[in-house]
Amino acid sequence: MAEEARPDWVPPGVDTRRANVARIYDYWLGGTHNFLADQDVGRAIVAVEPKMREIARANRAFLGRAVRFLTASGINQFLDLGSGIPTSGNVHEIAQQADPRSRVVYVDVDPVAIAHSKAILAGNDNAAIVEADLREPEKILAHDTVGRLIDLSRPVGLIVLAVLQFIGDEANPWQIMATLRDAMAPGSYLVLGHATDEGSRPTVMQAAETVYNRSVSTQIHLRSRAEILDLFDGYDLLEPGLVYTPMWRPDAPADVPGGPAEYGVFGGVARKT
Ligand SMILES: C[S@@+](CC[C@H](N)C(=O)[O-])C[C@H]1O[C@@H](n2cnc3c(N)ncnc32)[C@H](O)[C@@H]1O
Repeated sequence: MAEEARPDWVPPGVDTRRANVARIYDYWLGGTHNFLADQDVGRAIVAVEPKMREIARANRAFLGRAVRFLTASGINQFLDLGSGIPTSGNVHEIAQQADPRSRVVYVDVDPVAIAHSKAILAGNDNAAIVEADLREPEKILAHDTVGRLIDLSRPVGLIVLAVLQFIGDEANPWQIMATLRDAMAPGSYLVLGHATDEGSRPTVMQAAETVYNRSVSTQIHLRSRAEILDLFDGYDLLEPGLVYTPMWRPDAPADVPGGPAEYGVFGGVARKT
């Protein structure tokens, strides 16, 4: 079989023949920063969870509504952890449209996400990407770029969307969230989303989890609603609480395709008082 061409934007060291978390998600969203291996796994998961592309899109739409809510609430500095490969509706685009002085720091571990984020942020003095691991929150908080762009004495919009599912219990995501929360000023907001197998069709998400974990080295950990709620400890969850992402303050009926349904990812927005 002919080798897949390697585009020149792929950073050295990236094995394009191995499926990867960030690129599979990019594939579901219709992005162009993914390869055959990612597409194969992406399609295999769609075969067991036919709504997977809609789930990914609903997740991005939730992010957009939540960031607009935060900008309307006066937030103009954002820390987006596990931000992914940039696609349409990135946090800095929404935030800087509302307030051009808004500052955004993205954080990810994936080299393709880092390289592409650097490319689209070139020339934007108020936004940057940091290569760091969410399992080491102290390093993120102490990073020079975070210190330069984010004033931790003022409220921050902390975004932790569809990433904690890649952090196992042994790395204690609840403790990671507590460390981040303690560094946030009162009035800060948390936007959090997490994949779940809770609902009337848990076996569908469990089957997707099995396909994923067989094919990708970064394992996915679906969690229950109660486990996800505990990640908000120390914040006040705002209405409508922790819900499937399309149900979080939809702008229009079109935000809830096919009507209320189970969408594999719970999302919520909370405020630190
Ligand atoms: C499913 S994507 C979500 C992207 C974006 N937050 C969104 O919701 O649209 C998950 C992202 O988390 C990143 N990621 C996974 N584990 C991570 C870790 N330990 N630290 C930082 N980023 C991580 C992946 O590289 C990927 O870009």
